[in-house]
Amino acid sequence: MPTESQMLKIEKLNQFYGESHTLWELELDVPKGQCTCVMGRNGVGKTTLMKCVMGEETTSSGSIQFDGGTELIKQKLEERSRLGIGYVPQGRQIFPLLTVEENLRTGLAVRKDGSKKIPERIYELFPVLKEMKNRRGGDLSGGQQQQLAIGRALVIEPQLLILDEPGEGIQPNIVAQIGEVIRRLIKEDGLTVLLVEQKLPFARKYADRFAIMDRGRRVAEGEIAELSDELIKKHLTV
Ligand SMILES: Nc1ncnc2c1ncn2[C@@H]1O[C@H](COP(=O)(O)OP(=O)(O)O)[C@@H](O)[C@H]1O
Ligand SMILES: [Mg+2]
Repeated sequence: MPTESQMLKIEKLNQFYGESHTLWELELDVPKGQCTCVMGRNGVGKTTLMKCVMGEETTSSGSIQFDGGTELIKQKLEERSRLGIGYVPQGRQIFPLLTVEENLRTGLAVRKDGSKKIPERIYELFPVLKEMKNRRGGDLSGGQQQQLAIGRALVIEPQLLILDEPGEGIQPNIVAQIGEVIRRLIKEDGLTVLLVEQKLPFARKYADRFAIMDRGRRVAEGEIAELSDELIKKHLTV
């Protein structure tokens, strides 16, 4: 795939936790204007990969190119957000004692233009966040907290949104709402989405492409329609 059409291009990435080699010569293409879903069993390195993209873990070799050429490996953590990457970590990690509005404001710190205003678009996508603006984060349901975490990642109006298992432990109707928001962000806002998701129906419904990881390597990739029963059996079922 040509570099210009890629929002993210990862090549020969290696990562270690101490002596433990976790990512092996990892390759990943994330085309612009699409949702790419990274799949794989527990412990294969999906979250580690997202942390490497965001700079929360250091890599030993390889390259992560953003938007047709910026080498992320050389950039500091805050700089990567500022370049236009929104990140919703696994487990959400919102601030339970801050209000919904204050949680959203924390995301503004890395906005490139220095704006202190929460974009109205966030409340349009997640009306529940407007209704609950003054409630504490910790008082929201799990699903609402996930919506808040996504809203917080969106306040910088990123080009790329990374979501690590957004449906984990959340009631099905909110999972579906999150899926719909992903499609709207792509269609209406021109975003690119990199999703980590283990649930097949969700991936099939909302992703355009898939990449499967197994023991720290990318073992398959393609259009979501090409995700075969054979691949699922080999790399996804337990
Ligand atoms: N901070 C850490 N220190 C050491 N090992 C870790 C750390 N985080 C994750 N691991 C290990 O790295 C492997 C990949 O973990 P992770 O990236 O969380 O996988 P996944 O998100 O696919 O479930 C696992 O074996 C996990 O135990
Ligand atoms: Mg994970």
